[in-house]
Amino acid sequence: MGIQIKNVHLLDSPENERTDIYITGDHISGIGKEPRGFSKDEVIDGSGRTAMPGLINCHTHAYMSLMRNYADDVPFAEWLFERITPIEDSLSSEDAYWGNMLSIMEMIRTGTTSFVDMQMFPRMCVKACADSGMRALITRGLVGEGPGDEGGIRRLREAFDEMEYGKASGANVEFALGPHAIYTCGEAYLRHVTELAREKGMKLNIHLAETEKEYRDCLEEHGCTPVEYLERLGMFKSHILLAHCVRLSDHDFELLANPNVFVVTNPASNMKLANGFAQVAKMLECGIQVALGTDSAASNNALNMFREMNLLTMTQKGAREDALVLSAEETLKIATRNGALAMGREDLGTLKTGSTADLILIDEKSPNLMPRYNMKAALAYSASGYEVSDVLIGGRIVLRDRNFITIDEEQVYYQVSQIADRYK
Ligand code: NI
Repeated sequence: MGIQIKNVHLLDSPENERTDIYITGDHISGIGKEPRGFSKDEVIDGSGRTAMPGLINCHTHAYMSLMRNYADDVPFAEWLFERITPIEDSLSSEDAYWGNMLSIMEMIRTGTTSFVDMQMFPRMCVKACADSGMRALITRGLVGEGPGDEGGIRRLREAFDEMEYGKASGANVEFALGPHAIYTCGEAYLRHVTELAREKGMKLNIHLAETEKEYRDCLEEHGCTPVEYLERLGMFKSHILLAHCVRLSDHDFELLANPNVFVVTNPASNMKLANGFAQVAKMLECGIQVALGTDSAASNNALNMFREMNLLTMTQKGAREDALVLSAEETLKIATRNGALAMGREDLGTLKTGSTADLILIDEKSPNLMPRYNMKAALAYSASGYEVSDVLIGGRIVLRDRNFITIDEEQVYYQVSQIADRYK
């Protein structure tokens, strides 16, 4: 299958320059010049469009879109343990499939082409990715006390079973191990999961240093900060994604500047649950690798990476009282290339010959993007996400002229409404 995107502007080229992108199979086979032997099966008119790498949402819980706008304006502990968890426990796997589909729809519609997920229903996430063409790094959320804890061991076994299922599915999915947090996993369990990850060369994905309470409890219980605790457990010897990192000591900043460690910041969720602001500008100054995530639709309440980029740059400029931090360019890089590296995917987050063809087109003729001086500024500061017109994942068109190609939109709305009726 060969796709030519004609006369399109590339985000990284001079403002008025336009070119053609050639896609063969799942990758970009040429830019500007038609590759030899190119078979043209489909042409997309790129006039009035800007092409950029698809956005990468490095932290979410896709099935949780079913709880969007269900529990708002309540404190964190009440939100999680009294409102969200009881619903989670009552969901069937079919419900979870529709929750995953709804999230994937919202992400595709707003230009996200990959996400990192912590799931209770990994199989349904795999299925939703297979059906929609979406790409994901999936982690089964792991909660447990130690090797003798039956529930914890069962969840680990499930994680590996689902991985086998996922590998056989042909979907664009990879797997990592996802111990939920230091307050839901005992030390022995974390050690066990860490060992497994090292043994099998798997990545890790965990929530860390999200709340003041977690930070204080860790100091009290372990005599060190959450970051120091993971370092002590040997978790930074594996490729690891740390969601949040809002509460950090000066020493923590030093420990996080490690080539294996990727901090995933979630500005909307941290603000909405009143957990504060991650010091992202300082992290970047310290050489820490930072990617961006939305967290779930229950705590954000959107899975829109354009909105998230805007919140990231605005909050950092405001909190640091420094207009120079988190430029438009830096913010876009965090949401694309840094996300790709956090997923361990050299081939994503960039538009060049040989890259995997995960890319999006932006409709330049949108009132909020005019006049056209600086497209990067327009995308970081003015865009809503709904200017995205076309989305390709692995060379497959999943959104064309704002229409879903792989998803039956009405069916998803219907199913999700049926599920929500049970909780009204
Ligand atoms: Ni989360």
